[in-house]
Amino acid sequence: MDFENLNQEGRILWNQKAAFWDNLHGEFGNRFHQELVSPSVEALLKPQPGQQILDIACGSGQMSRRLAALGCNVTAIDFSEELINFSKKRGTPQGNPILYQVMDATDEKSLISLGEQKFDHLVCTMAFMDIPDLTPLFRAAKKLLKPNGSFVFATAHPAFFSNNPGFISEKNEVDGQTVYTHALKITNYLSLPPIKGVGAPNEPAPHIYYHRPLHELLGYAFQNGFVLDALLEPGFDPPKPEDAKPLHWTTLWQMPPVLSGRFKLTQP
Ligand SMILES: C[S@@+](CC[C@H](N)C(=O)[O-])C[C@H]1O[C@@H](n2cnc3c(N)ncnc32)[C@H](O)[C@@H]1O
Repeated sequence: MDFENLNQEGRILWNQKAAFWDNLHGEFGNRFHQELVSPSVEALLKPQPGQQILDIACGSGQMSRRLAALGCNVTAIDFSEELINFSKKRGTPQGNPILYQVMDATDEKSLISLGEQKFDHLVCTMAFMDIPDLTPLFRAAKKLLKPNGSFVFATAHPAFFSNNPGFISEKNEVDGQTVYTHALKITNYLSLPPIKGVGAPNEPAPHIYYHRPLHELLGYAFQNGFVLDALLEPGFDPPKPEDAKPLHWTTLWQMPPVLSGRFKLTQP
């Protein structure tokens, strides 16, 4: 597969939708971020003031801002110059200044130039599935981390959200009552070619997804000397009946759309 060309196409698409993305997430991130991604990542990270953290594929920077507000020293990279510009414009209303840099997460040499054993933690939220090859990132990660450092991620759940699932709503009469049952229809999992899709309704352009089954995703880390030492599957709270929307993750609250985990190096 021509990862290099796909990656370049991805950069163009992300630059095109940077304004939409920045507006979608605003200062604090959308509902997915506020209810699932950020709390699970923070629970795994346990960030401490003064720690050096690298936010990989930072988008419009909401995770970076959260960590900076907690007193961390954040370096944030993304290959979209436009998204980095939007992040810079938002600044750091609270906490430490953030060091933003345009950088491709498939460029191992550039990543390592950020500083060997510089970081207490690496963070990557909702971007593994947008990066065509994760080998350079994990090869660099083991050099960037301090001994005992951790690499915390949140990604679209490989089993439930990484395969263009169908949303199903079924209406039945049971004992004279109308009963709705909601379900996901998963038709592909083990072998998924890159596909174009939107990350949110009304997005101006689709981008390229690289969905991977769990063994393949975690395999990138295992092959580079990491072990997985914690895992979370955050899901939405059950909706109140009046808030239930049939074809939405909040109604399918039994299914976790996000998988968050923490990698550690086996031999620091
Ligand atoms: C779904 S967004 C997630 C952004 C942010 N981390 C968040 O949680 O909202 C995916 C991000 O990955 C970035 N990205 C995709 N491929 C990349 C690459 N090869 N190098 C760096 N960033 C990349 C995109 O520009 C985009 O900002």
